[in-house]
Amino acid sequence: MENLLSMTDAKEEVQNILDIASRLKSGEINDKPLTDKYLGMIFEKSSTRTRVSFEVGMQQLGGTPLYLSSNDLQIGRGEPISDTARVLSRFLDCIMIRAKRHDTVAELIEHADIPIINGLTDKEHPCQTFADLLTIKEYLGDFNKKFVFVGDGNNVCNSLLLGAAYTGMDMTVACPEGYEPNAEIYKLALEEAKETGSVITVEHDVHKAVENADILYTDVWVSMGDEEEAEERQRVFKDYQINAQLLSEANSNAIVMHCLPAIRGQEITDDVMTSPQSAIWDQAENRLHAQKAILYLLLKE
Ligand code: CP
Ligand code: NVA
Repeated sequence: MENLLSMTDAKEEVQNILDIASRLKSGEINDKPLTDKYLGMIFEKSSTRTRVSFEVGMQQLGGTPLYLSSNDLQIGRGEPISDTARVLSRFLDCIMIRAKRHDTVAELIEHADIPIINGLTDKEHPCQTFADLLTIKEYLGDFNKKFVFVGDGNNVCNSLLLGAAYTGMDMTVACPEGYEPNAEIYKLALEEAKETGSVITVEHDVHKAVENADILYTDVWVSMGDEEEAEERQRVFKDYQINAQLLSEANSNAIVMHCLPAIRGQEITDDVMTSPQSAIWDQAENRLHAQKAILYLLLKE
């Protein structure tokens, strides 16, 4: 794996990344292989988990992270991404970028000669998927499970579809009409699923979708960049909430996941977030271990 733009880049490394993440978490791997390595972290959007997990993770591995807000970089004043890529490649060993447009990250990769990690775009959030798969493995032991994504077929959902297809996990996306996952990714996930045996579906009836579910997962109804549609989205998604009733319709030992940040009372209720079935806080912690595994794989010589 040279870069992590999409889950497709990590197809052959999924189990390896999860294995490294578990070993980093348990302390079995505890060296500092990234001494004298520098990670630039470019943010065009807000972040709590991605920023802090990469910043702390890089330091725990012996390296140095640099937080670079796009507002303070010359990109914010119109310096081309291509020039930024060429110059930063001379200073840094790796860049993690959270960008408004997926194409921005693709362009950075085209012109940089260091590894580039996608820290969320409008299309994918692969770093989140690795933390999610690690959490499922820890809680449920394997991926021979039914995973139901409730809500917006967005960036988080798109990467999860590929993660499910690669690990052989069944995945149903329960979403309103018009909010299905990216068509190209969905098609690819269906093709990959043929090889691994995953059953991947989209279902508009959320109650039907959660039957026999082992994992219920959701994300905000209004993602960063969708703010202008907030009112309409709150109306369209109102039945796609993970609450105690919906959870009771899944398997009795089902776990609940959320990438966070959450808006309590919209996509998820407070009681579910804090219930014994919630894996949300371990899932958030696993961002650290998963992001370290990605850095370890990309940067350790
Ligand atoms: N889940 C996630 O990426 O969180 P942040 O937006 O806080 O980084
Ligand atoms: N779908 C959300 C995820 C936040 C981590 C967004 O893009 O805002």
